[in-house]
Amino acid sequence: MASIQDANRAFFDKMVAEYDLKPWQKKLELNITNFLVEKRQWLGLDLGEDSQGPIRLLDYACGTGTITRALAPYVGQIRGIDISPKSVEKYNSLISTNLPAETKAVEGDLIAPNAVPAATPEFTGFDIVAVGFAFHHFSDYKLGIQRLQERLKPGGILLIIDFLGEVDESTMEAFAKRHNQSTTELRATMHKTGFEKGEISALMKDVGMVDTSEFELEGNLEIEFQDITMNRKAMFVKGTRQ
Ligand SMILES: C[S@@+](CC[C@H](N)C(=O)[O-])C[C@H]1O[C@@H](n2cnc3c(N)ncnc32)[C@H](O)[C@@H]1O
Repeated sequence: MASIQDANRAFFDKMVAEYDLKPWQKKLELNITNFLVEKRQWLGLDLGEDSQGPIRLLDYACGTGTITRALAPYVGQIRGIDISPKSVEKYNSLISTNLPAETKAVEGDLIAPNAVPAATPEFTGFDIVAVGFAFHHFSDYKLGIQRLQERLKPGGILLIIDFLGEVDESTMEAFAKRHNQSTTELRATMHKTGFEKGEISALMKDVGMVDTSEFELEGNLEIEFQDITMNRKAMFVKGTRQ
């Protein structure tokens, strides 16, 4: 059987052509961006006079760059990593121009037995590592947090944005249909579709992270399929590397 990683690579390589294009996706990006901008102090992005040079952000599982676009005005350098080569290609073609931060993405998987890219200076010591709506696609959640934590500088922040609560089987079917994929292909990309309050913070604490906190996005994210609109809640979970 293919691994979750293989399933994700295949699924998102196929899906990337239409990712970001729908009005509901634009609205979702705007919602997330507004939240991140409003909470940038909570994220440590207003370092002011204490700042020791440009803030470095790792947008992990970056897809086509939602989190990058939201945070680019507040940071100096961004590196994206994604398991799907076609997503990386699209990220680099969309992002390379007109962004204030120096930005590029590479193909990789930090949850694989041999993490890629290796921990060179370019891919370590980040001030912030952010994961947008991809944590539920990880094969091993605790290992994922551990591996991402290792890419932070001491005092750096891990931010995970994901869905609160799970969806039922019929919604999974509608979602797969909407993307012209089989439910089996979709289900193979994840163990679960969302998390409970406190679940991700607990994993962060398990691997030694401190100062964890969570915010719930006000209102619902409306995700539209051909015939139904699914309302989902999103949460933002933060922890600090000691
Ligand atoms: C729902 S998309 C989210 C993309 C983007 N972060 C956003 O907020 O729009 C999930 C992304 O996770 C990537 N992904 C899944 N598993 C991964 C892994 N183990 N390592 C890196 N990227 C992964 C997929 O290729 C896909 O681009």
